[in-house]
Amino acid sequence: MSTGLRNCSFLCLFKLCSWSWTCLFLNGGDKSKMASEVVIRRAQQSDYNDVVYGIGDVFNGRDYLKTKYLELLEDPDVLPFVAEMGDEIVGFYCGQLVDNRRTLVKRAGRVKEGYRGKGIFFMLNNTIEFEAAKEGTVMVGAMACKKDNAERVSNGFAERKGFRLNIHLKVYSIKFERSKVPTVDPSTYQNVHEMTLTEVEELFNDEVTWNRLLHHERICVHYVPLRRVKENIRHVINHRTKAFMSFGPSDVNDAGAPLDRKVQNATMLSTIHFFKTNLGLGFNSDFYGADLQDLESHLQMHFRHISEAEDATISWVVNIDVNLDSKVRERLKQSLSAYGIQLTQNPNVQEEYIFERRFSPPRASDERGTLNTHLP
Ligand SMILES: *[C@@H]1O[C@H](CO)[C@@H](O)[C@H](O)[C@H]1NC(C)=O
Ligand SMILES: *[C@@H]1O[C@H](CO)[C@@H](O)[C@H](O)[C@H]1NC(C)=O
Repeated sequence: MSTGLRNCSFLCLFKLCSWSWTCLFLNGGDKSKMASEVVIRRAQQSDYNDVVYGIGDVFNGRDYLKTKYLELLEDPDVLPFVAEMGDEIVGFYCGQLVDNRRTLVKRAGRVKEGYRGKGIFFMLNNTIEFEAAKEGTVMVGAMACKKDNAERVSNGFAERKGFRLNIHLKVYSIKFERSKVPTVDPSTYQNVHEMTLTEVEELFNDEVTWNRLLHHERICVHYVPLRRVKENIRHVINHRTKAFMSFGPSDVNDAGAPLDRKVQNATMLSTIHFFKTNLGLGFNSDFYGADLQDLESHLQMHFRHISEAEDATISWVVNIDVNLDSKVRERLKQSLSAYGIQLTQNPNVQEEYIFERRFSPPRASDERGTLNTHLP
């Protein structure tokens, strides 16, 4: 997302009082008179159309902002900003504070085509960082990025910038018509159930079980990494997210199902998260456990949830920890094919990385631009 931010020539006037960046940038080759003013300000609900339709989809049809924009704006832990030039909104980016406001995760960044490479993203980013620093609680900055970006980023950049790779996921993107998915027989797997809020709370209270199930000490919902901090519970169970836990290997019938279904005895955990996209209803599934031995049970629960959707087209993303991927790929393939879905239908298996580093408030100057902090 930061492509094109280098080599931009602009002059910024940073207004401390209003927390907005006013920037005069000199368009492309014509460095004469064509200077336009960019203002960064807090995003409003009334900016919805300009942000969602004006800037356009940035995740190849799987953009979630259309669905989540208002929710993000209503969340007191989200710091959303737009970049405005004249009457036009040309950029959006938001910071989300998780882990009881100790971690800043930046999301949904975008700059309108034709305005990229001019430092707008840089200004949005800096505004989020300044605002987050004002909270006085933020210790960690986390970012998720796709493999293509990560390779560029990890090419020495991540290390130089002090980033550590935390989570590395294989991302299987599957698109199908819901009507083609056979109805799931709920009695097939008796070792798995949807977690109640109380059970999710128990999980957050139980360090031993948490560490046993989660490889990175974090649970990831829609690529937002969440630590075992009770303020994060609302991100794991809500109107868009369900969690499931299981007890022992899949395909356990009634007779074989364990009676003791306490959180402390869970052997696997998963979450499913949904949001509307231009490609149909989007689902994201994540799985946790030592070796994903109960994977089939969880997939079945996710399928059941997906089959209750009203949308015709489903865009499903299955995230698997890279370290477990080769062990479970064949089983994933088989499970899906039982539902008439070929894993090979989309050979473009992506990878997602989540980095984190110690949060340090932004400096007034940066390698990608010169900031003039003197007010005129
Ligand atoms: C459940 O977990 C507890 C704590 O680890 C253990 O003492 C108990 O034996 C387990 N029960 C079963 C049925 O595995
Ligand atoms: C965002 O700002 C921070 C603090 O100035 C900086 O370290 C980071 O590289 C910036 N990120 C991007 C994507 O520009």
